[in-house]
Amino acid sequence: MEESEQSLDQQSGQKVDQRPRNRPSYREIIEADTSPVSSILALTSNPAQSQADIPFEHYVDDDFFAREMGRMWPRVWQIACREEHIPEIGDYAVYDIGRYSIIVVRISSEEIKAFHNSCLHRGTKLKPSDSMGTTQDKIQCPFHGWTWNLDGTLNEVPCSWEFEHLDYDQNRLREVLVDSWNGFVFVNMDVDSAPLLDYLEVLPEHFKQWRFEDWYVAVHVRKHLHCNWKVAMEGFMEAYHTPVVHPEMCQVVGDWNMQHDIFGDHVSRDLCPMGVSSPSLDQPLTQEELLNRARPGSAAMSDLGVANLSAGQTARSVMAQEARQRFQGEYGLDLSSHSDAEVIDSLKYNVFPNLMFSGGASKHGLSIFRPDGFDTNKAIIDRYSFLPVPKGQPRPEPAEVFVIAEDESYMKSPDLSANDASVLDQDTSIMRWQQEGMHASAKGAETLSSYQESRVRWLHETLKKYVDN
Ligand code: FES
Ligand SMILES: [Fe+2]
Repeated sequence: MEESEQSLDQQSGQKVDQRPRNRPSYREIIEADTSPVSSILALTSNPAQSQADIPFEHYVDDDFFAREMGRMWPRVWQIACREEHIPEIGDYAVYDIGRYSIIVVRISSEEIKAFHNSCLHRGTKLKPSDSMGTTQDKIQCPFHGWTWNLDGTLNEVPCSWEFEHLDYDQNRLREVLVDSWNGFVFVNMDVDSAPLLDYLEVLPEHFKQWRFEDWYVAVHVRKHLHCNWKVAMEGFMEAYHTPVVHPEMCQVVGDWNMQHDIFGDHVSRDLCPMGVSSPSLDQPLTQEELLNRARPGSAAMSDLGVANLSAGQTARSVMAQEARQRFQGEYGLDLSSHSDAEVIDSLKYNVFPNLMFSGGASKHGLSIFRPDGFDTNKAIIDRYSFLPVPKGQPRPEPAEVFVIAEDESYMKSPDLSANDASVLDQDTSIMRWQQEGMHASAKGAETLSSYQESRVRWLHETLKKYVDN
């Protein structure tokens, strides 16, 4: 470190590092790329926030959890499944959130309906939790056999002479709102809610050029965790932890350079540059070293030898060019209109409360975070990875879910790379410690960094608007 980058702390007499460690900014990194900056990635938005501590009550208190369950979850748009999960009339999928259960049914080639998954006779779930399949042209309760048509009208009650007092019209299945965006089927239990597209704020505009519709679910991994659902999600909303939790990534990921944007109550994002060294390193890698270690496929980011860069090339420009060639060769997909950043960087959009989309030209993904049952201290992460439907070929079937128990490693999944599994294990193993530490806390609250953890604060600010109103 240069002497000029240090100053003396007046009280301690110690030398203090004065370098702004989140520089260069993400914006500066993409402006130095060899391709023009995408207008969507050029946007920045990080409004001023209160810097007050956030009480651990939000994560560990059963009463707060009950308020979330009563005031928040029934009033927000959530993803229940993909359209490709229910392609035929009569196909259904069940989505559970806490004590609620929603059954989503395709009733025509154009229309999907969603109902509370509870019988109007004596309450039995009509379809098992988390199940998918076909119900053909009727939905029948597995207890006494009351039966509904796909549009929710009551079709048949066994021993109907015993139910002369029953109003058939009043005993339609109770509907919830349902709408689709980019092939995702969303539901909302608040029938007076704002429409989905309004709720999604800037998301539809930003994803116009990164559409999911010609991509399919190639991998679906579900992990059970011992932590609150927000602990699980917030672990993926900042990269402040990278040098400690993922030290091996620092050579090739600009963790502290990440840009954090907040667009409204429901949508925020982070943009993380690949192919640059973390500002936490005292000795960043050279462009050649970066290219060697950051290329996809370079096993465990190991040194593969010396890369040759021509004049004007950077590690990022070569990584982007190689990705474009790979996508053209493997899927017939032309990524030439996309900037280098759109092709290689990690561009994650969070939609309140529990969705995290990976955007960009070459990465399409979705993680859904939710409580595991009605338990403050348990969570589930569903992680979907998408691949392009190869040109001229039929759409592959969506991947079946692969379930990983709380005490098992992501390495168990045959579909995740060893590198991805290792990073996910690092992230999720800390979550139990955090949850237990919050219970053990004498301070009772967390103190967040002003910028790198601003989206964690955003989550709680929006959450408060729901649970307090
Ligand atoms: S509980 Fe459903 S038919 Fe009796
Ligand atoms: Fe992480």
